[in-house]
Amino acid sequence: MESNTAFRSHRADQTLRRVETIEGFLKDKNRLDLTKQPERLVKVLSFWFPDKKMISRRELSKGFLKSLVKRFGLSQLLKRSSSKISEKDMYKRISKSLTKQSHLKFEHIFAATTDSVTKRPVNIELGCGSGEWAAAQAIATTGRAYWVALELRHSRVYDVFARIVFENISNLCVVGGDAIELMSHHVAEETVSHFFVNHPEPPQQVANASFEDVARRSEGRHMLGSRCFRLMHAALESRGRVTIVTDNLWYGTTLLHVLEKAGTNLFESPNISGKDIELQARHGDHTLWVGSPGSRCGHRASDATSYFDRLWKKGLSQHASATERYFLYLKKR
Ligand SMILES: C[S@@+](CC[C@H](N)C(=O)[O-])C[C@H]1O[C@@H](n2cnc3c(N)ncnc32)[C@H](O)[C@@H]1O
Repeated sequence: MESNTAFRSHRADQTLRRVETIEGFLKDKNRLDLTKQPERLVKVLSFWFPDKKMISRRELSKGFLKSLVKRFGLSQLLKRSSSKISEKDMYKRISKSLTKQSHLKFEHIFAATTDSVTKRPVNIELGCGSGEWAAAQAIATTGRAYWVALELRHSRVYDVFARIVFENISNLCVVGGDAIELMSHHVAEETVSHFFVNHPEPPQQVANASFEDVARRSEGRHMLGSRCFRLMHAALESRGRVTIVTDNLWYGTTLLHVLEKAGTNLFESPNISGKDIELQARHGDHTLWVGSPGSRCGHRASDATSYFDRLWKKGLSQHASATERYFLYLKKR
């Protein structure tokens, strides 16, 4: 009963936040008008065939365009647009944002025009939910970094899209699809500066199972399996980093065992203990920290929260800690 009330209050809080964002947008004299710049929708890349392996640039571009038309109202937008851009032009822009191997060309996705391509560090948040955290980071690093928010569930992808428009965030793009699929086929090697995961969903907790057992049994069924760590490693630039935050100590410890399974030579855990960060657990070469990751671990807007961060802070989960945040901070070897 008590938790029902708390859930309802969390949802009401979420709705209020949305209303405030829309109010802010309506009051903003310089707000983004998509009818004048429909090409900004190139920053919404939603896989039409999320389960199809290795498809050609042509097929992939057609799929992204189809998603924009069917899920994000592109046709209506173009009808109301003062610019002369057609669906065919959008297709060309999308296709220019992909290499022949169907890898994302991040700097092209973020370029306002095809002549204004600038290279900047690329940060990717996997499983971004409604994108609140990624949006705060992007705003804090405008002009210095690009942010890619990846999410599987369409309603949440749409939330991120709305956030990009309402908050006029030029250095954030949203990808709708599966993290493993994206990294396996559409991110070129050594192109990403930092991966982030906040409050990932843990695998099912089984009574009396060892951490090794859980790490092995959950393979393929939860996003942060050993394959995900190997794919992040391949996609990262030299000395690239990974920061994973969880409220669940059991899951944080399990991840140390998943990392071991992925390969002990992939990442190191630099010593970052200090005023706000303490060692919580160690397994093999890797450390689970407790505290707040802060800018040193890539959290530039360190006061940024997310839907699930606030939810767990209400103490609504028997597995999650309301106050403690556990995290892994890894550097590519
Ligand atoms: C517990 S939520 C956390 C969301 C957000 N990071 C936050 O802190 O509010 C985990 C998110 O990961 C997404 N997710 C799970 N598996 C995924 C996958 N394989 N690829 C992309 N996203 C995934 C879920 O849809 C969900 O939105």
